[in-house]
Amino acid sequence: MIKVNDRYFILETKDLTYAFYKMETNHLEHLYFGNKLSENDLNETHVKLTAKAGSMVDYLEEKGKDIPLDMMPLEYSSYGKGDFKLAPIIIKMPDNTFVSDFVYDHHEVIKGVLNAETLPVGHADSNEAETLVVSLKDMKFDIYIELIYTVFYDANVILRRTVLKNKSKDIISIRKIMSMMFDVYGSDYELMTFDGGWIKEAHAHSVKLSKGTYVNASNTGNSSSKHNPGIILYEKGAHEDFGSCYGINLIYSGNHYTAIDQSNTGILRLMQGINPEMFEYELKSDTVFETPASILSYSSHGFNGLSKNMHQMINHHIIPRQFENNVRPIAINSWEGFYFDFNERKLLNLAKKAKALGVELFVLDDGWFSSRNDDTQGLGDYDVNFKKLKSGLVGLSNKIHRMGMKFGLWFEPEMVNMQSKLYEKHPEYAVKIEGRIPAQGRHQLVLDLCQEVVRDYIVKEISQIIDETKLDYIKWDMNRHMSDFYSASLENQGAFFHQYILGLYDILDRIFNKYPNILLETCSSGGNRFDLGMLSFGPQIWTSDNTDPIERLFIQKGVSYLYPPSTMSNHVSLSPHAQTLRKTPLDTRFNVAMFGVLGYELNFKMLTTFEIKEIKKQIEYYKLHRQTLQFGQFYRYNENQYVRMNFLVKGVKKSFIGNYSILAQSSPYLELLKAKDLEPQTNYSVQSRPQKITLDRFGHLIAHALPIALNPNKFLFRLVNKYKQLDNANESFTVSGALLNHGYKMKQQFMGTGYNEHIRLLGDFGSQIYEINQLHDDITTN
Ligand code: GLA
Repeated sequence: MIKVNDRYFILETKDLTYAFYKMETNHLEHLYFGNKLSENDLNETHVKLTAKAGSMVDYLEEKGKDIPLDMMPLEYSSYGKGDFKLAPIIIKMPDNTFVSDFVYDHHEVIKGVLNAETLPVGHADSNEAETLVVSLKDMKFDIYIELIYTVFYDANVILRRTVLKNKSKDIISIRKIMSMMFDVYGSDYELMTFDGGWIKEAHAHSVKLSKGTYVNASNTGNSSSKHNPGIILYEKGAHEDFGSCYGINLIYSGNHYTAIDQSNTGILRLMQGINPEMFEYELKSDTVFETPASILSYSSHGFNGLSKNMHQMINHHIIPRQFENNVRPIAINSWEGFYFDFNERKLLNLAKKAKALGVELFVLDDGWFSSRNDDTQGLGDYDVNFKKLKSGLVGLSNKIHRMGMKFGLWFEPEMVNMQSKLYEKHPEYAVKIEGRIPAQGRHQLVLDLCQEVVRDYIVKEISQIIDETKLDYIKWDMNRHMSDFYSASLENQGAFFHQYILGLYDILDRIFNKYPNILLETCSSGGNRFDLGMLSFGPQIWTSDNTDPIERLFIQKGVSYLYPPSTMSNHVSLSPHAQTLRKTPLDTRFNVAMFGVLGYELNFKMLTTFEIKEIKKQIEYYKLHRQTLQFGQFYRYNENQYVRMNFLVKGVKKSFIGNYSILAQSSPYLELLKAKDLEPQTNYSVQSRPQKITLDRFGHLIAHALPIALNPNKFLFRLVNKYKQLDNANESFTVSGALLNHGYKMKQQFMGTGYNEHIRLLGDFGSQIYEINQLHDDITTN
C-alpha cells in the first residue's frame, strides 16, 4: 500500500494512487492524486520548469536548488521562502519572525492506523490500513512537523494530519496550522459546498473557482449547518455519474476551514484544518500540537463514485466499531408530539401505541428534568421532574423496558440556563467574560468544557443516570452557537475553541468508552454538528429539525454526498408540517425517511385509523429491508430537482428507488425508472411498495374517480374517506439489469383527463418506492 522508492513516496488504495517526491532542496513536490498509476508513469508526473519567470524568488542561489517554490506544486508549504501561494502554516518562531522552512528529515511506515493523543483519527485492522509518517525539520530551529498519511485501502481514502513538535527550548505561537495541503494543476475546477442554517441544512451549492482564494469555514464553535466541513472539488462538467472529483472532509466538530487558492501559474492549492480565525496556540518546549485529521478521496466516476468511497470509510472506519453493520432501532421520539407538555401517563400511552405498531425504541426528549417546562430554564440540572414523571426516570425506564422496548433519553450537557440550580451554585462554569453581559442563544449559556471540573460534573451526572435507568440510547444535543469566548482555565484565549472541542471529546470518550453499547445519536438543533468528529463517537445524527419530507429531500440529498444513509436519523411527523405548513401524504413522509435510520415523532392520537394501519405496514416494510436501507450504497440522479427527485440505495441483491414528485406538472413527461450499476445479464423483479390514495386528495374532483357524486364538505364524504382508498398505480414486472440501467418506461402519470388503476397519481409531493430484487436466473444469450 505504501512504497518509498528512492525519492518517491507512493500511496496506493484499491483504485487510487497518491504520490509525492523529495526534491533536491528536500521540499516535497506533490506529484499526483487520481486513478491508479504505474510507477513508471510517476516519473512523468513532475512539474517541468526549465526557464525562469519574472517576479519569482528562488529558494537558493545554488545550482539545482534555485527553484521558485511559488511555481512548484507542493505537498505542504512553509512561510516566507518564496512560495506566495496561500500558506498552510504560520508560526511565530523563537526568533520572533514568522518565517519557517520545513524540509524532509526522515520517515517511517507502520501497519494500521497511528492513533492520536487527543483527537479521533478513524480505526482499522492492521491489514486494512497502513501509515506513513514523514518528518520535516525547520532549517533553523529544532521544530518539526510530521505529515501523517493513513491509507485505507478498500475505502479508497487517504487520511492526512499534521503534528507539530517543538523540540526547541522556546515557546512558539501557532497562528495557523492546516491538517493537510496539496497542489494540483488546473484552472477549470468548480467547488461544491453544503450550506444552510437551522431547518435548511446541507443544501448543495456549486461555485466556479477563479483567481484568488475561496474559503468554506465555520466560526460558531461547532462545525455548523452554515457550512459543512466537507467539500467536493470537481472538474467542470462532472456530474453524479461522470467526471473527475476530489472529496475532502475533516474529522472535527469545531471551527473548520477549507481554502482553495488559485494562483497565477494555474496551480490550485487545497488545504483544510482548524479555522485560523481567533486561533493562537502557544506551544511550549518539548510539547506537541496535533491537528484534526482530513480524509481525502477521488473518483473519476462522478459524485456517486466519490460518495461510495466516503460512505465506506464512515461505515467501516469512522463510526464506533460496535455499530458497524449493526442495524439501528426504529424510534418514537416525544418531542414533536408533546414538546414540554407531558406526564408519565401520556408517555406510556405513546409508547404502548408505538410498540403495537412495531417501534423498538422509546426516546424521551427535552423537558424531563428540573424546572424545565419551557426553554428558559433548567439546563445544567439533572434532578428528575417528579411532577411530570411520577415514578421518576427509573420507574418510567422500567415500564418501557417491561413493554419490550429500548429506552432512550435526551440531554443537552454542554449548556446551562441562568435559571437553574447549577448556575446559581456555579456561575463560573459558564462561558462569559467579566465586565460584559453574555449574549444568550435559546436563553442559554455554554458550559466551559475547557475546565476539568465542568467536564467531571457532566460525566458524573450522566453516568449516574445511565446506571440508574439502564439507558439504551442517548440523544446528545447542543442548541446554540458560541459567543463571549473565554475560559479561566486558559492562559491563552486563542486556544479556546480548540480546547473546548478537546474537552467535548474527552467527555464523550469517558462516557461512551465505559458504556460502549449505548447508541449515541448526536444533534445540534438538527444538523449543526453533522460531522465526522461526532460520528467517531456516535453512529447517527439527527439530520435536521425539519421533518417536512420535501425539505428533507434536499437536506438528505446534500448530506448524502459525503455521509451514508446509516448516519442520517429521519423521522416521520404530522402534516401539515409545523415549520412549512405544507400538507404531504403520509406515504411520502415515510418514503423519504426510510432512506436512513427511521423514526416517528408525532402523537398517534392525531392520526386516523387508516393512517395508523399504514404506519404499521411502513414499519414492517422497513424492518424487512433495513439492512439495505441503512447500509446499502446510496446514489443520486442528475435531474431537475425542483420537479422530481429520485434516490437509489443498492444492497447486495436488493435495491430501492424512491421516486418523488415535487411539483406536479401539467401534461407531465413520460418517465423512466432508472437503476444504476445492476448486473446487465441478470434478471430483476421490480415491485412498487403497495400504496393507497385517500379520497381527500381529490376534493371536489372525486366525481371523476368514483361512480357516485360526493360533496367533499359534507359528512358522507368524510365518512367514505375514512374507509375507502384507491389503489395507486402499483407496478410489478421482471426485466434485465441492462434494461433497468438503461431506464424502464413507467406507467403514465395523471394528466388531467381521466383516472384508472394504471395511472400514477402523484400530484404535488406524491411519491412511490420501487423494490428491485435480483433473481437467480441469469439470462443466457444464445
Ligand atoms: C433541539 C433538537 C430537537 C429537540 C429540541 C428539544 O431543537 O434539535 O430535536 O430535541 O432541541 O429542546
